[in-house]
Amino acid sequence: MTQDIKGLRTVLAAYGCAGASLQPLGNGLINLTWLVRPADGKPAVLQRVADVFPAEINRDIGVVADALARQGVVVPGVLPSLSGQLWVEAAGHNWRMLTWLKGACHESLSSPDQARSAGALLARFHRALDGLDHEFANPRLGVHDTARHLAALRDALVDHPAHPRRAQIAPLAESILAAAAGLPALPPSRDRIVHGDPKINNMLFDEASGEATSLVDLDTVGLMPLPLELGDALRSWCNPTGEDGRLGEFSAELFAAALTGYASAAGDWIEPAEVRAIMPATETIIIELAARFCADAFNENYFGWDASRFTTRSEHNEVRAAGQLTLARSFAAQREDLSNRLLEAFGLATD
Ligand SMILES: Nc1ncnc2c1ncn2[C@@H]1O[C@H](COP(=O)(O)OP(=O)(O)O)[C@@H](O)[C@H]1O
Ligand SMILES: [Mg+2]
Repeated sequence: MTQDIKGLRTVLAAYGCAGASLQPLGNGLINLTWLVRPADGKPAVLQRVADVFPAEINRDIGVVADALARQGVVVPGVLPSLSGQLWVEAAGHNWRMLTWLKGACHESLSSPDQARSAGALLARFHRALDGLDHEFANPRLGVHDTARHLAALRDALVDHPAHPRRAQIAPLAESILAAAAGLPALPPSRDRIVHGDPKINNMLFDEASGEATSLVDLDTVGLMPLPLELGDALRSWCNPTGEDGRLGEFSAELFAAALTGYASAAGDWIEPAEVRAIMPATETIIIELAARFCADAFNENYFGWDASRFTTRSEHNEVRAAGQLTLARSFAAQREDLSNRLLEAFGLATD
């Protein structure tokens, strides 16, 4: 199938890899990704970048990757084409080549040690970028604009009165909107330079030691409040069942371990108000993601899906939405315990 993808051959030629062998890589939801093995050179990663991202984000990624490299934090660098460009346009899309990083990619965490290591790596990433003087091309507007995502779900309910799977999706949508109405308030926080999508499969782990070694998928790097970034990480890291099942369960043990790891590397760089906001931010992000998956169960035009496990994109996204809703309920049922574990991890007094 790979060979049929329009533009692929042109792009490989632009990077001087016309004869390379290609192998699909990872389980991303947005970009198309391949491991490229040239006959005479180092393996690299080729991506057809999703059209939602402006091509200029590759400049942001280059600047951020250089800044991180100077401080020993490993992320993929952007490799220039033969003519020195950071991206190549072909077949109506933007493509780029990245350095390939060795490591295992997981769809869920399986131990507190992994969670601790993931937390420490993310904190090192944040600290290393603090104070970087760069004007981001990435607009970041509305990425975690929960009200907008909820409105989009309400619109999808109205726009698809005759969707063939409406009987399954509509009640789920109503439950997500009801859960959203009960979310705790999210206090305002200042912007920090963040990864923007620190989910578990955007991290690589050393096969032998199990330590988190690098962060990939820097398309969303930019400015955002830190509690939202951490909420997004925690909703992914603390759900051992992963994103593709109907029953999410929030693990207090993984939560405590991830935060202990984050605190160990963040020290007092993170402010107490940011720490306290992690609770409402995590719950908000889970419901927001449930709403996004649910809207796509109707719209069927955004998230990638696995045709070997589901009949339609709609079904896969409905299952994902149900998984996030149950994850949010599991979180809400443990609020007090989770809040105590959060404060303990950062050495703050419990309320
Ligand atoms: N530079 C890289 N080195 C090694 N693996 C990578 C690299 N970039 C991406 N991957 C793998 O490919 C997957 C998809 O790439 P990613 O950039 O995360 O795209 P998406 O936006 O679709 O999630 C990642 O989850 C990871 O497993
Ligand atoms: Mg990814």
